[in-house]
Amino acid sequence: MSELETLKNELKELNTEYTKIKTLPQEERGEFGRRMNLRKQEIMQRIKQAELAEIDASLTAIDVTAPCAPNNNIPSVKLGSKHPLMTELDRVIKIYSSMGFDVMESYQLDDEFHMFDSLNFHKGHPARDGYDTFRTAEGFIPPAHTSTMQHRALKKYRSRLEQGGQIAVVIPGRVFRNEDVDATHEHTFYQCEGVFVSENANMGQLFGVLKHFFESYYDQELKIKTQPGYFPFTEPSAELLIEKPSSLGGKGDGWLEMMGCGMIHPNVLKMAGIDSTKYHGFAWGGGIDRLVILKYGLNDIRYFESGKLDFLEKFL
Ligand code: DAH
Repeated sequence: MSELETLKNELKELNTEYTKIKTLPQEERGEFGRRMNLRKQEIMQRIKQAELAEIDASLTAIDVTAPCAPNNNIPSVKLGSKHPLMTELDRVIKIYSSMGFDVMESYQLDDEFHMFDSLNFHKGHPARDGYDTFRTAEGFIPPAHTSTMQHRALKKYRSRLEQGGQIAVVIPGRVFRNEDVDATHEHTFYQCEGVFVSENANMGQLFGVLKHFFESYYDQELKIKTQPGYFPFTEPSAELLIEKPSSLGGKGDGWLEMMGCGMIHPNVLKMAGIDSTKYHGFAWGGGIDRLVILKYGLNDIRYFESGKLDFLEKFL
């Protein structure tokens, strides 16, 4: 008989013995009950241990450090790889770094102040609703754009201005919007923000930086143009469009809206402790997913967050 069976029999016997309680005089019953319960607990504990020991014995040990590669004759094994968005994000960062921009990472949970107040959306500003923000029960906000980081970036680097330098930083990050999902809209996507401040920053430099960025990313010369935009944190504000890259069959005949941009509003500089009469800045922000979709001619943004292996494998 196994140890487990012996213990289970003991438990049965104990239960039978327990019924004797009825035959005992009233004053002995309490003590008897207590003793029985203690024994029962002890047996139950040992049963648990014996059960675990049986499970352990039935398992064959595996060597978790053994190499596991497809060429090990295990056809079902597939190697993981970097997500295409991360590969492309690295490219984006590399281009900006080569232009001298520092890189900061955005938060995945932020607050009302960084999402709105620090960006010159006063309380009750109608543009607050335009961002379809999620909120946690505690009132935190998963950021709806990477602009939430502008205030932090300005504060982090403002001492450079006093030393005669400039602020030049890009901030990639994951953003979240509470909107209906379809082929061109996701609730979760990536953006990259750019912030530049110096004594003489101007729109010409802004467009120069962005043109260089898009031409490097698509590896071809591209025309850019702007149309008026509105963002409370920039004045003037613009939408930047690029000529459809030839990799997408463009022949200068189509324009694609790529990002929002503009001169940083003096209030945003002031709130970060920067003298807005002395320093000027420009900023921009746009979706990474969209960049990548255009580059590869993809037709559905939802694939990126879907975990579909047949989609991801195309980028190996
Ligand atoms: N944060 C804006 C959005 O997601 C885009 C944007 C516009 C970013 C203008 C900027 C800017 O930095 O200056 O809609």
